[in-house]
Amino acid sequence: MMRRTAAVAALAVLALGLAGCGSGTTAPDEAAGGEVEVFTWWAAGSEKAGLDALVGVFEAQHPDATFVNGAVAGGAGSAAKDRLESRLRADDPPDTFQAHAGKELTDYIQAGRLEDISALYDEFDLRKKFPTDLLRLLQDHGKIYSIPSNIHRSNMVWANPSVLRAAGVDPAATYGSLDEWFPALDAVQATGATPLAIATTWTQVNLLETVLMSDLGAQAYLGLWDGTTAWTGADVTHALADFGRLMSYTNADRDTLDWTDSTQAVIDGAAAFTVMGDWAVAAFGEQDKVAGVDYTYFPVPGSADQFGFIADSFTLPVGAPHPDGAKAWLETVSSLEGQTAFNRAKGSIPARIDANPDDFSAYQQASMTAFGHLSIVPSLAHGAAASITVLTAIEAATRAFTTGTSDLTTFQGDLAVSAGWRSGG
Ligand code: BGC
Repeated sequence: MMRRTAAVAALAVLALGLAGCGSGTTAPDEAAGGEVEVFTWWAAGSEKAGLDALVGVFEAQHPDATFVNGAVAGGAGSAAKDRLESRLRADDPPDTFQAHAGKELTDYIQAGRLEDISALYDEFDLRKKFPTDLLRLLQDHGKIYSIPSNIHRSNMVWANPSVLRAAGVDPAATYGSLDEWFPALDAVQATGATPLAIATTWTQVNLLETVLMSDLGAQAYLGLWDGTTAWTGADVTHALADFGRLMSYTNADRDTLDWTDSTQAVIDGAAAFTVMGDWAVAAFGEQDKVAGVDYTYFPVPGSADQFGFIADSFTLPVGAPHPDGAKAWLETVSSLEGQTAFNRAKGSIPARIDANPDDFSAYQQASMTAFGHLSIVPSLAHGAAASITVLTAIEAATRAFTTGTSDLTTFQGDLAVSAGWRSGG
């Protein structure tokens, strides 16, 4: 509604460059029934709780259908996406799979992996149920290829107030920039606790994107993805130096961990802060932690005017063995009941515009407001800003930098090459 209207113009930026040659036929229109293998990376913890909530609605709406869980563990699809690619190459697709709105989905569309499911938007009466420009991120040549389940925000800090108090840091303090935040991290460092918990490469790229948002601002951050901001510029050098400094506050065992572990370090009081997408709020909630008491949150300093945009969506792959089951799943994903049950457990906000804010937590209500008012900027680590190929290259560059194989100058050059940036745009 209001928040959606305000978000529309900003989302349009994400839709730029979504061109290509989608293929496919209309989804079969048989009665739902039989099995449906649903491929996600929501394999454990609060993510599985979200999936379970969706499955509960699915089973109620489609009692004849059998849900088959094809989840592959690994945050952000770090293992699932490779596994999916080999299955797609081997003509062994699941019945439906999770994909991020934006460039990641465009990859699958342009590779001819997905069926056009526009007809389902008419059949399920969805054309007016999602923000227009979110729909644009799911399209190619006017055909729609997936149904969005939720919207997450990437640029959030999660904090443990007890650890902060022990370091003499006011848990209610606000920070207008990364420079204002560093003294708090120094204070925690001095106590021996981990100032900033982090995990394996994709979580480091999640941190990196938020530092770029913070130091560059929305306009220049967007420019990184449309060729108008130079990856080789001094402002990017400055951001990468800040990223390097933030990494110096992180736990040494990071590369062996996933986001659940780094978030747990904050929950357990081993670390003061972590930067993570707002699926983290569901991990706190699942362990009965109370916002404002056991944990606090705020946007990554300097990025409070931006909403690091992520949307999960579900597809109908070409050659899906049970298209009727997939269609039943997509109907549940698209339904108000499905979106409400799923997002309540997942920490995200519904993609549908008609969800009732009262059904959601205070964090989620604030996120709905933020989505309506802030600059929407696409997440790098979660498929909105860059193709899988570009993201994979940026991950490799980031890994080299954070494991000490490359220095800042090399890192910046690697990023420019990875993003395909050339002088002149
Ligand atoms: C997905 C979220 C998920 C997170 C961590 C993101 O890419 O969009 O749904 O919770 O990864 O696994």
